[in-house]
Amino acid sequence: METTLLDGRTAADAMLGQDKATVDGKRLKLVVVQVGDDPASSSYIKQKKKSSQAVGLDYEHQHLPEDCSWDDLQEVVAQLNQDTSVTGFIVQLPLPKHLQEHEQDVIELIDPNKDVDGFHPSNIGQMFLGNEHLCPATPSGVVALLTHFDISVEGKDVCIIGRSNIVGKPLSAMLINRGATVTVCNSKTVDLCSKTLQADILIAAIGKPKFVTKDMVKEGAVVIDVGINRLEDGSLVGDTDFETLQGHVSAITPVPGGVGPMTVAALIRNCVRAARSDR
Ligand code: GUN
Repeated sequence: METTLLDGRTAADAMLGQDKATVDGKRLKLVVVQVGDDPASSSYIKQKKKSSQAVGLDYEHQHLPEDCSWDDLQEVVAQLNQDTSVTGFIVQLPLPKHLQEHEQDVIELIDPNKDVDGFHPSNIGQMFLGNEHLCPATPSGVVALLTHFDISVEGKDVCIIGRSNIVGKPLSAMLINRGATVTVCNSKTVDLCSKTLQADILIAAIGKPKFVTKDMVKEGAVVIDVGINRLEDGSLVGDTDFETLQGHVSAITPVPGGVGPMTVAALIRNCVRAARSDR
């Protein structure tokens, strides 16, 4: 079987090409708040800056020290909520250890209308009700990638491995909204293969390098790999065994260059949506 490569870089460029730096007469401004120096976060933030610059929107990186207090972080969020020049902002996760108990608190302090991560309970709740306005970037990127390559999910069996608040759970809602039959698995799922083998579309978001092997995937299925795992030799691999799936599946995303660029494009699209006045 011929396997189509679902190239996220071209799809993301196409998406970014449609975005504008000014919406309804208002200039877009994205602020990314980073606390500490998590290396993976620093790498993701670089991509966000690059795509912001490609679209021409105003971009600011507020880099707070590792030992930032909870009071100081709350103050930064309050300022960004008030600043009318800021149309959207995110607080990059994970927070340093001493602030991790406050992750959900930070999310809930963000003005839902500026919540371009789509993590606020009000945006998540609306999404689950089918009112998609600001949805989390990675699930939105996956949906946009499928749309770009004309892969319909309606009526399909979709299996997601991973139930995180950032990917698995919200993605299940977005796919249900589009008429898919969704199975959400996790690391404790009994007889995981019996679920994954049913899937017309298999989505791996577990954070385990090359976890999904050929014997777990139906012939001709579409495979979406959300994983970004850095191996000891410095190389990046996904959650699926990309090489052995070649020739077995009908389409697959590469890592890097698959879902990653789409996630950033979806964040920028959320900046456009947040700035719109017609809601
Ligand atoms: N960490 C990993 N992914 C994300 C994301 O989409 N948003 C934020 N804020 N932090 C993350």
